[in-house]
Amino acid sequence: MKDNYILAFETSCDETSVAVLKNGTTLLSNVIASQINSHKRFGGVVPEVASRHHVEQITACIDEALLQANVEVSDLSAVAVTQGPGLVGALLIGIMAAKTFAWANQLPLIPVNHMAGHLMAASLVDTIEYPAMALLVSGGHSELVYVEKEGSYKKVGETRDDAVGEAYDKVGRVMGLTYPSGKAVDELAHQGQDTYHFPRAMMNTHDIEFSFSGLKSAFINTVHHAEQKGEDLVKDDLRNLAASFQAAVLDVLIGKTKLALEKYPVKTLIVGGGVSANQGLRERLQLDVTDVKVIVPPLRLCGDNAGMIAAAAYVEWQRQNFSGLDLNAKPSLVF
Ligand code: KG4
Ligand code: ZN
Repeated sequence: MKDNYILAFETSCDETSVAVLKNGTTLLSNVIASQINSHKRFGGVVPEVASRHHVEQITACIDEALLQANVEVSDLSAVAVTQGPGLVGALLIGIMAAKTFAWANQLPLIPVNHMAGHLMAASLVDTIEYPAMALLVSGGHSELVYVEKEGSYKKVGETRDDAVGEAYDKVGRVMGLTYPSGKAVDELAHQGQDTYHFPRAMMNTHDIEFSFSGLKSAFINTVHHAEQKGEDLVKDDLRNLAASFQAAVLDVLIGKTKLALEKYPVKTLIVGGGVSANQGLRERLQLDVTDVKVIVPPLRLCGDNAGMIAAAAYVEWQRQNFSGLDLNAKPSLVF
């Protein structure tokens, strides 16, 4: 059978990425142009700035992805692109580029849900045995998704308020860390102890839902009270604050994931999204989730990248799930 090559585009937030995937599992290239330095000084992603960077970067990323993959345009089988969720202006740049490329080269166009991408990143490193459960934790989303069989995604629980990554970034900001601060908070947490005992929301409810805004507020209030009393937070306090925050987050994530696994027996647990880079989460998963196969992709596939979009697109390609050139962005796309 003819080899399959998918050229995928990801521009939903602040990374411009283009990848080439061969036969669904061999990632030939995964070019990522990060804009993070342009957003740092604003303490978050500025949508207009993100769109402008995507426009500037996308063509060079396409050329580089094809070059690194050593693939000719005539070899390609399809073009895939993130349709949502994400920032509308940012998504539209990837969609326009993908549509143009598909039209000019007469290739089918595959729209991809960004969260399906985070989930299917696991398929690039291991075999997903179905049914599977996915814990998806990123800057914009925190959810548990049941995948009965390949390509059939059903959200079974989500956050009621903040996403986990968002909470990490907010507490990091209060501690004076640069955006995005998830990694720095994770590193500090490893040097401290859970001395503050922050609340673990909804741990005793039997629904698969998270809430992180109470934890975030408890953290911020603790820091502000100390400041009002004129207490200087020394390095040890920051370490213990980070460790206490992370311990509360992980208790909730692991607790709710175990509840989901009880309600929906599966063969594989997939963990995806930017927060799956968290070392504490990886350690807890190893200790606490032992009765199913666990796939946590390597760090390079945890953050936003087009390789994961190509992996999710391959499932749709097999089903011939193509879209017309009237494809539009869906900033609030859900499973
Ligand atoms: O999936 P992603 O790259 O972008 C979105 O789609 O949101 O996730 C980015 C998020 C940020 O909030 C960042 O702080 C968080 O992932 N993050 C981490 C770690 N590395 C990145 N959070 C906790 N621990 C980490 N090691
Ligand atoms: Zn993401």
